[in-house]
Amino acid sequence: MKTIDELLADGVSGKRVFVRADLNVPLADGTITDDGRIRAVLPTVKALADAGAKVVVASHLGRPKGAPDPAFSLLPAAERLGELLGAPVAFAQDTVGPAAHDAVDGLQPGQVAVIENLRFNAGETSKDDTERGEFADRLAALADVYVGDGFGAVHRGHASVYDLPARLPHYAGYLIATEVGVLKKLTEDVKRPYVVALGGAKVSDKLAVIDQLLGKADRLLIGGGMAYTFLKAKGYEVGISLLQEDQVPAVTEYMERAEKQGVELLLPVDVVVSRTFPDLKTKAPTENTVVDADKIPADQEGLDIGPRTRELYASKLADAETVFWNGPMGVFEHPDYAEGTKAVAQALVETNGFTVVGGGDSAAAVRTLGFDENAFGHISTGGGASLEYLEGKTLPGLAALED
Ligand code: 3PG
Repeated sequence: MKTIDELLADGVSGKRVFVRADLNVPLADGTITDDGRIRAVLPTVKALADAGAKVVVASHLGRPKGAPDPAFSLLPAAERLGELLGAPVAFAQDTVGPAAHDAVDGLQPGQVAVIENLRFNAGETSKDDTERGEFADRLAALADVYVGDGFGAVHRGHASVYDLPARLPHYAGYLIATEVGVLKKLTEDVKRPYVVALGGAKVSDKLAVIDQLLGKADRLLIGGGMAYTFLKAKGYEVGISLLQEDQVPAVTEYMERAEKQGVELLLPVDVVVSRTFPDLKTKAPTENTVVDADKIPADQEGLDIGPRTRELYASKLADAETVFWNGPMGVFEHPDYAEGTKAVAQALVETNGFTVVGGGDSAAAVRTLGFDENAFGHISTGGGASLEYLEGKTLPGLAALED
């Protein structure tokens, strides 16, 4: 994989460089609530601009349906990029149309433009190779060189991630190089004990990674909505908690395998339950209680791991040499159910081992809960991407940068 350093060494002054970033940031009423992904691509954008390139930044945001949708405009992200760069950033109101060409043609060496959401075009995510290829051709017309730095999207075989690099000289940006370096540490010669904390809503999203990790990790700590499918598989009643009944057989099999292979698979021993799901907008106080994991009332749902589980999980993380954490332990967006996620984040801060926070919600959680980012070994920008890497899959956006 050629890196941006090689590109810079060859000289980029005056060249149009297409940077495929992942600026898919969370927005609330048009305001960015976590700009981590924008900050993460700054080194690449800055280095290119400083070297005199005409930098064209592109990204998706959300999941619009292949046509323009103002709710998913990249404009807020472009504005934030400009603030962080301390320089004006041009914004094109289309992706490959006249506005994009005008914006790119108007760039002076060292200037930056952001084009509108790639997913406003059906060709970006199309499953049809020809349709994707045609869109990639139109993107290629905007640039001389491609730099892949949208780590969060490398698991998507989309036009800007997979087809476009085949059409232009291509290089990996600093973020992709860093992320891949970190994930290699989790897969090759990992230092033990290797402890993995997994949370989040859906167990089905995590099955493949659990399957892989059973052969690699020493301990697996399970929390979040997915824990209730495990508790059900253990024979407990889970009330109205999140449950993927169809996944119970798979989860049962994993628990048996963990036991056979000597992997400690830990489930919550107590949970915080409530009759109603909290209001995440008003964050109004809720009525809740702590119950043992085998005593969840029929009319209540588990929304966080309880205090005994927090202590247990912290003790299992304390002596870890390597930690990977993906997925919140509860509904951390509401203060009544944030303690489990905070406890795991705090345990990562306190351990002397190498800690990796695996993107998505858990990365947003550590920042919104006020943790110092520097207290973690690495906070990934890719939730799905880092999971698929750990699953051992070939990631299209990395494969495309290889040759
Ligand atoms: C993410 O948020 O995980 C990445 O930006 C990819 O987004 P996607 O899941 O909508 O493809």
